[in-house]
Amino acid sequence: MDTQRHTGSTALVTGAASGIGRATAARLAQEGATVVATDFNGDGLATLASEYPAISTIQGDLGDATFISELVAGAEAIGPVAIVANVAGIMDHFVPVTELDDEMWDRVFSVNVTAQMRICRAVIPLMTERGGGSIVNVASVAGLGGSGAGVSYIASKHAAIGLARHIAYTYGPQGIRCNVVCPGGVETNIGTTAAPTSMWSFERQMPSIALGERTAQPDEIAAAISWLTSSEASNVNGLVMPVDGGWKSA
Ligand SMILES: NC(=O)c1ccc[n+]([C@@H]2O[C@H](COP(=O)([O-])OP(=O)(O)OC[C@H]3O[C@@H](n4cnc5c(N)ncnc54)[C@H](O)[C@@H]3O)[C@@H](O)[C@H]2O)c1
Repeated sequence: MDTQRHTGSTALVTGAASGIGRATAARLAQEGATVVATDFNGDGLATLASEYPAISTIQGDLGDATFISELVAGAEAIGPVAIVANVAGIMDHFVPVTELDDEMWDRVFSVNVTAQMRICRAVIPLMTERGGGSIVNVASVAGLGGSGAGVSYIASKHAAIGLARHIAYTYGPQGIRCNVVCPGGVETNIGTTAAPTSMWSFERQMPSIALGERTAQPDEIAAAISWLTSSEASNVNGLVMPVDGGWKSA
């Protein structure tokens, strides 16, 4: 860990009450960033802030467009946002397309894609005014193929990759870097939205899921996010990086 790596930068981290987001907020803070952490889980944010008193927290629902405007304004009041880690996400109980209702699709897309888009839309003009910034959107190995989850999660993670590639290409000349991290299995609380409600769909995914070598610790993903957002990755833009122990190389 390089404790000076992000000194002088303000970082906005979503999904920071748990799992990969929590590890990312903690790591960026330990590496010198001024961290603004957000989540709708207030207890989780309070625990994070008690462990890392330098981290500021803003609680709210990323499915709410008004909250996202307030979040970006609140983060900017703490410091000029130069780093964004769009980590928050939810699973879809392995629901396949023929058993899907619109509500599930909309809920998963609202967190996994639309919130990332809204945050990017709000911060990119601010970043370009200041000469640039770095964004990492968390997708999944489920964004690299057709297996591993239900249709809403898989499609939303493919969309998150498309969002990041669009930003990388379009705003690269203005100093914006936008990269994607695709974790494999990670030991977090995402299981709360993963319990299968469609057993045949879940069993159909199992041969693919079984190719995952091991479950990672959240900080193994946070380390990749930190590097991508740092100046060491200054020419890395539009990268879709599996952090999956080789799962998707099978
Ligand atoms: N854990 C895995 O195996 C795995 C694998 C691949 C990708 N991912 C991705 O990693 C990211 C982080 O997930 P995790 O595994 O750390 O899960 P997690 O459940 O431990 O953390 C996700 C956090 O997002 C927050 N969140 C969810 N919906 C929200 C909303 N509407 N508003 C505000 N906050 C909200 C939750 O409260 C939670 O704190 C997700 O995008 C997920 O899809 C996880």
